[in-house]
Amino acid sequence: MPQTTPRTIRLDAYELAGQDIATVDVGRLHELSVGVRWPHRPADWDVLRALGHGIVALDEIGRVFSSGMWFPHGESCATIGMVITSPRLQTHGGGRWIMERILAECGTRRLLLNSTRAAYPLYVSLGFEPQGTVYQCQGFVPEGFEVDPSLTRGVEPLPLGDIYEIAALDAAAFGAPRPELLTLFAQTAEACGIRRDGQLVGFAMRRPFGRGHVIGPLVATSDEDARALVAELLKGMGGAFVRLDTRQPAGPLREFLSKAGLVQFDTVRTLTHGGALPPVTSGSPGTYGLAGHALS
Ligand SMILES: CC(C)(COP(=O)(O)OP(=O)(O)OC[C@H]1O[C@@H](n2cnc3c(N)ncnc32)[C@H](O)[C@@H]1OP(=O)(O)O)[C@@H](O)C(=O)NCCC(=O)NCCS
Repeated sequence: MPQTTPRTIRLDAYELAGQDIATVDVGRLHELSVGVRWPHRPADWDVLRALGHGIVALDEIGRVFSSGMWFPHGESCATIGMVITSPRLQTHGGGRWIMERILAECGTRRLLLNSTRAAYPLYVSLGFEPQGTVYQCQGFVPEGFEVDPSLTRGVEPLPLGDIYEIAALDAAAFGAPRPELLTLFAQTAEACGIRRDGQLVGFAMRRPFGRGHVIGPLVATSDEDARALVAELLKGMGGAFVRLDTRQPAGPLREFLSKAGLVQFDTVRTLTHGGALPPVTSGSPGTYGLAGHALS
């Protein structure tokens, strides 16, 4: 991976300087993401900035034209996201410039990201390898939506005062510890879990995001348990906009999502660098719903 990348870049007629994303007004970042039709609210950018590091390319009057972020998970893993170039300056090298700087900061960590079609050639050229498809399922839950009680048998509300148990299960599924992320989400999330023999074997969180709510992370040991957890979190959500990003192919979870109004809106591809994505195998803790597009 490149060690040094120039600190400024010329994109078309603009001379842009790289700057720490933490120093920029959130309104500028919001303008950038709205420009590529992403749903993030300023509050969502703030959550991401609290969890990670990043770089922006901005002009001399502070307008942001490119961004990229990375999120450390333990000492040896990170996810990359929020890689954006303003449409009017795309294909001039800004995305590659940001990514080279991000990769230098990430060092030797194992890396994961979820790539849109537009970014795929860039990531592959930087050594990332495809691991799977993410189905972005979203929509308005029908008014009066009711969940068959048999679907959620055994699911219980999960108090989020102490995330120790959740963090251990999440780490087993994700392959790296994410206690900071879970602690921050816990401030605004509702959560539920499934226990067997007293041990937590599945959990899901629902929190405000974008146009409404996002469900994730969703960790379970089977597609049926994942469905039960989602069903619980959709109770009373009739009329609300909800999103869930999953790598699960067709099956009980995806079928239920469709019935609940969360239909496939788009797909992205998960790519990794320096190690494969942990597999989802029935009977072991697996990731059935991403914590977020940028967070994997
Ligand atoms: C993806 C994105 C960040 C690329 O930014 P950019 O500044 O245009 O990237 P660059 O100019 O550095 O291009 C990087 C490479 O990708 C290629 N590329 C750029 N846009 C492309 C597109 N729409 N389709 C196919 N290839 C594309 C370029 O040709 C370039 O290849 P090269 O260096 O071998 O010539 C930008 O298109 C964007 O913000 N898209 C909307 C948001 C998004 O999808 N972000 C990615 C999230 S994973």
